[in-house]
Amino acid sequence: MTPPLCALDDIDDPGAKGFTVTRDGGHVRIFVVRRGAEVFGYVNSCPHVGAPLDIEADKFLDIFKTGILCANHFALFEIESGHCVRGPCNGRDLQRFPVTVRAGMVVIA
Ligand code: FES
Repeated sequence: MTPPLCALDDIDDPGAKGFTVTRDGGHVRIFVVRRGAEVFGYVNSCPHVGAPLDIEADKFLDIFKTGILCANHFALFEIESGHCVRGPCNGRDLQRFPVTVRAGMVVIA
């Protein structure tokens, strides 16, 4: 059984946190956005050029904390869908990574 990523309360509300997980024998960088009791997981790779979105660790949200912001060239994504609504990869999507909350812990679904 895969251990939890963290407690839900370890992530600001709203806020986000990055992780490196093992999948299919390799390491995958992901991040989880929390909004209330909901979590949204994505692979930490911008569809623009494949770079991690956070230049500063765990800074994945815009200043209003209503969208996911890539720190490289400022693409903006919807939190709930990962769909890019502004920037150089407009119309493209972050790759979802399945996470959920069980007993107050964020786990891989
Ligand atoms: S790498 Fe994300 S907007 Fe360019």
